[in-house]
Amino acid sequence: MLKGLILGILLGVALVAGCIYFYFSSGRAPVATSAPPMPLERRLAKLGLHAYLDKLPHPAPQVAADEANLISGAKVYKEQCATCHGLPNEPKGAIQAGMFPVPPELFKGTGVTDDDAWESYWKVENGIRMSGMPGFKGPLTETQIWQVAVLVKNADKITEPVKKELTAGATTPMSMAMPESPAATAKKKK
Ligand code: HEC
Repeated sequence: MLKGLILGILLGVALVAGCIYFYFSSGRAPVATSAPPMPLERRLAKLGLHAYLDKLPHPAPQVAADEANLISGAKVYKEQCATCHGLPNEPKGAIQAGMFPVPPELFKGTGVTDDDAWESYWKVENGIRMSGMPGFKGPLTETQIWQVAVLVKNADKITEPVKKELTAGATTPMSMAMPESPAATAKKKK
């Protein structure tokens, strides 16, 4: 009786594992960014992220949400984030539209104004695995990460000077947009 039960459980487990293997090995899993998500993909990814974030300390922002910090955050944002997350009153760019998951527009609608600043701070510092959201620990200082986190937290309340800083100049530095441009190559040789 017990033997039969154990055998049944083992068989069940093997069947599930076999089905999952078949799903991937037969090319049924989505691979293009334009393909719909896998069953449960979005829900499981969100569940994992939130369960993890809940266990972390929730520090208060280490910079004040004043205009100086928001302008510094805007400088970081237009150089590092706008390509994927867009700018106020500008249409989606090709990179943003072509990604999976599509990066949320942080200056349209609610954006992440309903998340605490520490949560966005953590996401910018560490990135979000298997989403395309890079971690910026290293390239950006802790202060810069707080400044940009406070900026996206207050994206619905920015003043004209901050908006101006966001929209002034190119959104993508030339070296990033055209990595093999003569200017970029010349820089590398130095
Ligand atoms: C290469 C594209 C890319 C760049 C550059 C990028 N992100 Fe993201 N980011 C993403 C994607 C994709 C997601 C969505 C992840 C998801 O759906 O789980 C994301 C998610 C986020 C989130 C969480 C959004 C939410 O709804 O919870 C925040 C906050 C964020 N990014 C801020 C930034 C900031 C600030 C920068 C610049 C310092 C930046 N990102 C740069 C692609 C990018």
